[in-house]
Amino acid sequence: MHESILIYRKHRYLKWALALAAVSAVIYLIDRPLGAPNGGTWLGYALGTAAGGLMLWLAWFGVRKRRYGVGKVPLEDWLSAHIYLGTALALIATLHSGFQLGLNIHSVLYVTMMITIISGMVGLYFYVSYPRLLTENRRGLSTEVMLGQIAELDRDVRQIAMATDDATNAMALKSTQDTILGGTALQQLRGFDEHCPTTLARQFVESSVSSQHDAQRRQLLTRLIRKEDLLKRIRRDVQLRCLLKVWLYVHVPFSIAALAALVTHVVTVFYYW
Ligand code: HEM
Ligand code: HEM
Repeated sequence: MHESILIYRKHRYLKWALALAAVSAVIYLIDRPLGAPNGGTWLGYALGTAAGGLMLWLAWFGVRKRRYGVGKVPLEDWLSAHIYLGTALALIATLHSGFQLGLNIHSVLYVTMMITIISGMVGLYFYVSYPRLLTENRRGLSTEVMLGQIAELDRDVRQIAMATDDATNAMALKSTQDTILGGTALQQLRGFDEHCPTTLARQFVESSVSSQHDAQRRQLLTRLIRKEDLLKRIRRDVQLRCLLKVWLYVHVPFSIAALAALVTHVVTVFYYW
């Protein structure tokens, strides 16, 4: 997914969303209800039904997404419409409430819905901007090629280090054996490892390179620097991919919470009617 989803079918779904939002806003401004505007007027019910229906349809995307190849409407249409109509929902639901937000059960629905919408916007930002960042970071190399280069560098490092003193050899060996890529979800999200054995080895060799004639250490240093750069790029790659997924851990649970709050809201308003 990339920018094209925003201009999909010449902004068809942006136009739909703008039309829906404009019609709702105009009727809201023209309407003169008895008392303050609220969810209980005829317009309140109409906007509430539209907002509730939209929310159910937006949540259905989770089901539709997993049925690749099935259905008359392509997945791109679903997603483009999901993004624009999901954004319009924020306005429609706000007009429905007549801006009557307070510390009550109805506002739980409003808040969970808004968190879902905002997390959707964050996810959209990731989807649109990250493919470029991923490509730039890789500089034309695939993860497999980078890992292959690291393995080659490790071989060189081990060989060169054998001709150096024990301390340098030990640091170099540690860099080839104990360097971790990936790790826990938190480590993947951080995108760097301050205790990385390769960085420690590079710093050690750097500080101990003494003269122009210290050929072994210089060769070692060149390889450690190259390996460190590759590690940095792979860690950044993992971090970006992780961020592409992590927002869904907010978006999906909150959309489920919002659906539960919607049911509670509708039951409550009809119960006290
Ligand atoms: C996304 C969907 C919806 C959101 C975010 C939402 C939110 C709200 C909020 C914040 C209020 C103001 C509560 C207050 O006065 O303190 C409200 C009122 C109301 N809503 Fe909804 N609502 C939604 C859907 C619905 C649906 C589907 C219905 C029923 C058809 C509905 C019926 C009502 C009614 C009757 C009121 C007036 C309650 C009263 O004044 O006591 N709402 N809604
Ligand atoms: C209350 C409103 C919303 C609900 C209930 C909702 C619900 C969902 C659900 C259930 C999914 C499927 C996730 C999965 O199963 O992997 C999804 C995906 C997504 N939503 Fe929403 N969403 C809402 C609003 C929005 C908004 C406003 C935006 C953007 C502005 C948005 C952007 C996205 C994106 C980018 C995806 C991921 C598509 C993919 O991974 O292919 N959502 N949403």
